[in-house]
Amino acid sequence: MASSSTTSHFCLLVAFFPLSSAVYGQLSTSFYASSCPALEHIVRSAVAQAIATDSRMGASLLRLFFHDCFVQGCDASILLDDVGSFVGEKTAFPNVNSVRGYDVIDSIKTAVEANCPGVVSCADIVALAARDGTVLLGGPSWDVPLGRRDSTTASRTLASSDLPSPASDLATLITAFGNKGLSARDMTALSGAHTVGYAQCKNFRSHIYNDTDIDAAFAALRRGSCDYTAGPTDGNLAPLDERTELAFDNAYYADLEARRVLLRSDQELFNGGSQDSLVQDYSTDGALFFADFVAAMINLGNISPLTGNAGQIRANCSVVNSS
Ligand code: HEM
Ligand SMILES: *[C@@H]1O[C@H](CO)[C@@H](O)[C@H](O)[C@H]1NC(C)=O
Ligand SMILES: *[C@@H]1O[C@H](CO)[C@@H](O)[C@H](O)[C@H]1NC(C)=O
Repeated sequence: MASSSTTSHFCLLVAFFPLSSAVYGQLSTSFYASSCPALEHIVRSAVAQAIATDSRMGASLLRLFFHDCFVQGCDASILLDDVGSFVGEKTAFPNVNSVRGYDVIDSIKTAVEANCPGVVSCADIVALAARDGTVLLGGPSWDVPLGRRDSTTASRTLASSDLPSPASDLATLITAFGNKGLSARDMTALSGAHTVGYAQCKNFRSHIYNDTDIDAAFAALRRGSCDYTAGPTDGNLAPLDERTELAFDNAYYADLEARRVLLRSDQELFNGGSQDSLVQDYSTDGALFFADFVAAMINLGNISPLTGNAGQIRANCSVVNSS
């Protein structure tokens, strides 16, 4: 870096190469520094363009990373299509008609392959896109540990069992994250991702109709677009954070304190249990939330990565390589 000849050249290098690199587990923030120096720029531009077209996409990409990492680890298994006899995860209950952003990952992959073919995994593109979605919505930034490889398998069964349900109670949530090596603190910080994005009636109807730990006016408001009976309104959307659903901030924790959230699993974080005081800390200290969210995202991204010669670099994120 010090030998860069001009200031503008230096700035360009700073933009593409982190000044310091760090190793987390088997991953490294500088993994593609020489093999694909434009990678982070390509992903950032593509995510910005996707959000410009669809303001919800930043949130959707953040969730995609969670749903990848919780099933077999962060290995892009969620991206594999059901083809012939191959059974993927896209049709698993927590994912089907719910997880979004597959097309965005595919178009990023196409752009990355054009620049540095055969080098960058789909799993790392998912991790970078989640970080960029967070940043572009106003959240914290961090250097993403990289070097994951892509799976040759997927598991619809694990997608159905390991991704927590929105009806979960606190103990169930803590166990589900604990099973992935994540602490209760990681879980409460990561749930702050629900400061952005939307949920469908079918996922919060029981909370707004049947639960008592909810603000009455808020419940009435949400019932307005969400009929009691399952059916036509199942897919109607409401914002997970009622005031700033396109801004990555700490307002979600204030929503929890006000008991104005959609998911029962969210309210469980502030319901007289072990996470109450942390929720209060995050709602009053946005910087603390951001710092813990970043640490927890790195922990999430460290779940069972395939590294070295394990797995493969898929040519097409939707299918395992044929040879
Ligand atoms: C703690 C356990 C969690 C449960 C039970 C849960 C459940 C849900 C549900 C039911 C939805 C709405 C889906 C729909 O209606 O289609 C949702 C949306 C979302 N989740 Fe979670 N989630 C959890 C943790 C997380 C984590 C750890 C992240 C990321 C770090 C995350 C990020 C998101 C985002 C950003 C959305 C909005 C997506 C969009 O608008 O496309 N969630 N979640
Ligand atoms: C409310 O609870 C009752 C009794 O468990 C159940 O039959 C009903 O389906 C629930 N309503 C909603 C909207 O979830
Ligand atoms: C990737 O594979 C899928 C098959 O699941 C196919 O539909 C798609 O056209 C392929 N994309 C590219 C860029 O070849």
